[in-house]
Amino acid sequence: MKIGLIGVGTIGGFLAEKIKADSSLELSFVLDTDPEKVTGFSKEIVINSIDEMPTVDLVVEAASQQAVGQYAEAVLAKVNFLILSVGALSEQALEEKIVSLCKEHSTKFFIPSGAIAGIDMLKAMQSEVKSVELISRKNPKGFGREDAEPVVLFEGYAREACKKFPKNINISATASLNGIGFDKTKVKMISDPECSGNRHFLHVVHSFGEMQIDVKALPSKNPKTSSTAAYSAFDLIKKIQFGINLY
Ligand SMILES: NC(=O)c1ccc[n+]([C@@H]2O[C@H](COP(=O)([O-])OP(=O)(O)OC[C@H]3O[C@@H](n4cnc5c(N)ncnc54)[C@H](O)[C@@H]3O)[C@@H](O)[C@H]2O)c1
Repeated sequence: MKIGLIGVGTIGGFLAEKIKADSSLELSFVLDTDPEKVTGFSKEIVINSIDEMPTVDLVVEAASQQAVGQYAEAVLAKVNFLILSVGALSEQALEEKIVSLCKEHSTKFFIPSGAIAGIDMLKAMQSEVKSVELISRKNPKGFGREDAEPVVLFEGYAREACKKFPKNINISATASLNGIGFDKTKVKMISDPECSGNRHFLHVVHSFGEMQIDVKALPSKNPKTSSTAAYSAFDLIKKIQFGINLY
């Protein structure tokens, strides 16, 4: 399967290595606005604009919320799109545009569970879900802060959280899209010096019970990004390649 990567920072760099190490996958292009990030790749696969995109089977975005809007049309007009910066879909007009592009061009967009677990059950119970609450703790470094005590940085709903913290709370978008939406999914974000990395607590109440998921993960090279998110994205690439019932 031929794959193109938009953004080869922390997650994209990890994915590039995994793709190169897998003989059934081919890294067909990399695109990054920072020229430093693409220096380690062979010149043949570095593109400077999405207009230069070669024929691929899947494009993976691991760049930024802004990049999702910037490239969605060019990508989805031709090929399936896996999006890491899920918070971009908190912009309702962009979510609608992506859904309509997929319908128009018979393409698909994919979102990984990323740094959170339990998304499978949330999705399965979607019509029965009564409430979803996400409490995210990160070391102050993850917010570019130096707090000595826990500080609540945000309390509200996912749509606003994704706008205010575009690099930090993509999992609230993932939970929203698989659950009860951006305007009903409660989010609390805490800068916590006792947290060595990132800790995400998801509480879902549905008609037949409830689910509590508590994920602790070390940060990646990027203190805003959980190390688990990149593994989740590669797992989804393999599921797309072989079909969801691989295991
Ligand atoms: N879904 C999840 O659970 C989850 C978890 C962690 C991170 N993320 C998101 O994934 C994305 C990547 O995270 P990261 O830690 O690898 O970030 P990073 O900052 O380490 O790397 C991002 C790379 O993308 C490049 N880039 C930014 N905007 C671009 C654009 N418009 N066009 C091309 N390249 C562009 C940057 O130059 C950089 O090299 C971020 O948006 C982050 O918020 C999602």
